[in-house]
Amino acid sequence: MIDIAGVTKSYRQTSRRQDSRRQDSRGQNARDQRASDTDASFAIQGINLRVPEGTFIAIVGGSGSGKTTLLKTVNRLIDVDAGRVSVGGEEVAHIDPVGLRRRIGYVFQGIGLFPHMTVAENIAITPRLLGWAKDDIAARVRELLDLVALPQTYAPRFPSALSGGEQQRVGVARALAAKPKLVLMDEPFGALDPVTRDALGAAYRDIHARLGLTTLMVTHDIQEALLLADRIVIMQKGRILAQGTPQELLADDQPDGVRALMDMPRRQAARIADLSHAGPAAPRNRSGPGDGIGERDG
Ligand SMILES: Nc1ncnc2c1ncn2[C@@H]1O[C@H](COP(=O)(O)OP(=O)(O)OP(=O)(O)O)[C@@H](O)[C@H]1O
Ligand SMILES: [Mg+2]
Repeated sequence: MIDIAGVTKSYRQTSRRQDSRRQDSRGQNARDQRASDTDASFAIQGINLRVPEGTFIAIVGGSGSGKTTLLKTVNRLIDVDAGRVSVGGEEVAHIDPVGLRRRIGYVFQGIGLFPHMTVAENIAITPRLLGWAKDDIAARVRELLDLVALPQTYAPRFPSALSGGEQQRVGVARALAAKPKLVLMDEPFGALDPVTRDALGAAYRDIHARLGLTTLMVTHDIQEALLLADRIVIMQKGRILAQGTPQELLADDQPDGVRALMDMPRRQAARIADLSHAGPAAPRNRSGPGDGIGERDG
């Protein structure tokens, strides 16, 4: 369903080029531009990823490793510098981006609700743009509020009157509103308390399976990735460090970087198990070695 082949995106390349153009106008030569092109830094580089229809993929990796950039190349919120992205066999570069985005669900990192629209209006954006009948939209909004476990009384409220986690649930509802077959989610559950997060994650996984969706979800939570996804893609410094099923990535034969990342939830689970078996006075090691690995790429 999604085919990403040799995809590269650099931000600095563009801005440095503009810088060197400005320098050119002040009389410097074109050598500056060639030099700055070669030391361009890449947000993502040489990414190859195939996502078969019906698959749930989790993308994990440190801050700045290129997860959001990769996700946005799929619905053309970002156009690539090199390589190809295809959705359903069609190269996205040849599809009108507005039409493309209306058929792909997207949950923005950091919620991104429209503050001047009510909860119901936010959820209804895409169905409205697609020209759905008013009654169908109203019914869909009610259905989605139930789905993300928000009271119906929230429909006329503005986002500012909701907690961060509640707003995030509206974001998920909005992404699903027009019944997309492909859903991209950028840390969709990050602002939720663990209980709601677990419940909404499981509820979403259920919807994904029931409706035969294809899902690409960015998350910082390895445990969430392991529990929800069919496959996990680990990113590091703009490249894919490893990918595989949770079972494959949990195996002992993985490289050190992958093992360190995958061991974390195991170590945490083991420490919690220790706590529940140990007596109240038993000494305990709260911070095991290696915790926090993968949170930053440095
Ligand atoms: N608009 C932009 N202009 C310049 N650089 C950018 C821009 N957007 C992202 N970058 C850079 O590209 C790299 C990848 O960013 P990206 O947002 O994809 O990371 P991420 O993995 O989603 O990180 P996080 O987990 O913090 O959200 C980072 O180094 C970032 O600073
Ligand atoms: Mg991001």
